Amino acid sequence: MKWWKEGIIYQIYPRSFFDSSGNGIGDLNGISKKLHYIKSLGVDMVWICPFYKSPNKDNGYDISDYKDISKIFGDLNSFDILLKKMHSLGLKLIMDLVVNHTSDKHSWFKKARKSKESKFHDYYIWKEGEKGKKPNNWKSVFSGSAWKWNEQTKEYFLHLYTENQPDLNWENPIVRKEVYSIIDFWLSKGVDGIRMDVISLISKRLDFKNIPNNIIFIDVMEKYYANGPRVHEYIKEMNKKVLSKYDIVTIGEGPGINLNNGLNYVNEDENELNMIFHFDHLTIDFGKEGKYDPIPFDFIKFKKIFSNWDKLFSKRGWNSIFLGNHDFSRIVSRFGNDNEFHEESSKLLATLLMTLRGTPSLYQGDEIGMTNINYNNISFYDDVETINAWKEAIDNKKNMKKFFEAIQKQSRDNARTPMQWDNKKNAGFSKVEPWIKANDNYKKINVKNQEKDLDSILNYYKLLIKIRKENSTLVYGKYEDLDPMHTKIFSYKRWDKNDVFIIHLNFSNCLVEINSSEIKDYKLVISNYTFAKKRNNLNPWEARIYKLIK
Ligand code: GLC
Repeated sequence: MKWWKEGIIYQIYPRSFFDSSGNGIGDLNGISKKLHYIKSLGVDMVWICPFYKSPNKDNGYDISDYKDISKIFGDLNSFDILLKKMHSLGLKLIMDLVVNHTSDKHSWFKKARKSKESKFHDYYIWKEGEKGKKPNNWKSVFSGSAWKWNEQTKEYFLHLYTENQPDLNWENPIVRKEVYSIIDFWLSKGVDGIRMDVISLISKRLDFKNIPNNIIFIDVMEKYYANGPRVHEYIKEMNKKVLSKYDIVTIGEGPGINLNNGLNYVNEDENELNMIFHFDHLTIDFGKEGKYDPIPFDFIKFKKIFSNWDKLFSKRGWNSIFLGNHDFSRIVSRFGNDNEFHEESSKLLATLLMTLRGTPSLYQGDEIGMTNINYNNISFYDDVETINAWKEAIDNKKNMKKFFEAIQKQSRDNARTPMQWDNKKNAGFSKVEPWIKANDNYKKINVKNQEKDLDSILNYYKLLIKIRKENSTLVYGKYEDLDPMHTKIFSYKRWDKNDVFIIHLNFSNCLVEINSSEIKDYKLVISNYTFAKKRNNLNPWEARIYKLIK
């Protein structure tokens, strides 16, 4: 039994959470001010996306100083205050560690690019390329080539993300030592956990083979960029040298991690990580070319992904459960119905999140059912990934109307609009124009309204979290999908020697009949509909949790 298995994570995107300084960007003092709200949800751990010193080309995922705080977010003093306040409220802090790459403005890279003689040169990955040609055909996850020419040393450097995010060379033991010292710096301050950004990418395949043309995006990730030959050696070393010295939680973000290799990262016997964030369910609608090449959502496959991952960790390892984060669109717009069943489907997704085996992560704003933004013009979008993909689509003469529709659906900005606190200007997020435009629906969908309304999505989340906390069966109990081939209903059982639960979720806009005989000895614990229910059918987007009467 571990605290991080029983706890619930709340994820904060600091730029968009609460602006206390009046610069239009959320900050650390803003988080401090809202800690009572976070505590009121019943969550235990708070993962905050990067707030280190950064030129913010990728909103903090490009770090120029790992041991300092970006001025826009505060300083080391505001960090200390935040951590102390969190601890006094019994909240744990999880920081984001981004060490696959640094910013190109990091002093290491500035020196590295000047001369091959610099000791920092070997901190990064360089290739000469032949006769002016790029070393290979690898593409950056954010469009274009993954190689950028450096005139001073007449070489290319590797960047799997933007050209301002050069990849670190983990083959170099000094780089690894630097990383462990960064981790130690924060853990010795009392930080309780680390989410490790794209940790599956740190070991490179040194043959840098070309990628064949017809291979789909997800396979490129798995077979070329992620899961390199020394990845487990590095994580084990990190564990031994620093992680194992602290009682912390570690979660590795894992593009390219799947059912075949997932357990290798979190098997307790191997002393690597505690959990991983895999993306099988979140890339379910990605086509051959990735997220902006969408394919229809396959509900049966969606359920199967949860079942398969539960099975994978049924004996060893531990699952993490999440439905969205700062890199994906809003969960109610993606998996629910953000129109006529906004409230019902938000609550249904909450029920799914809080009743599976594994540690749930709740992303800011999902607890009030925040929706996609649907800006009507590309100029409103901010995210480098979106903008680069847009430019590339123009160059490739794509059908731009169709491409824009894909952006509206999939852009990461959907999840990055300001947190909707109340119905005042800018959603109560900031007194000035925010860095990214707030969703107009803040007048209706906001924390203040929902705190007052007992039946709100927010209060439903709080109740569900309480139910999960009071029933360890919902944390540790076994899981079985009761009807995997049903095209509208997700219904599963959770049980152990103490209790049995059955959860029914209707993922559709229609009334659906169900077999009520299996719940005849059960009592209803919670549902997202308040009016009297017939046991043999489920209303559109209805969610019910039943418990066996003893
Ligand atoms: C991760 C982060 C994402 C970032 C990328 C590069 O996927 O979650 O926001 O852009 O890594 O660091």
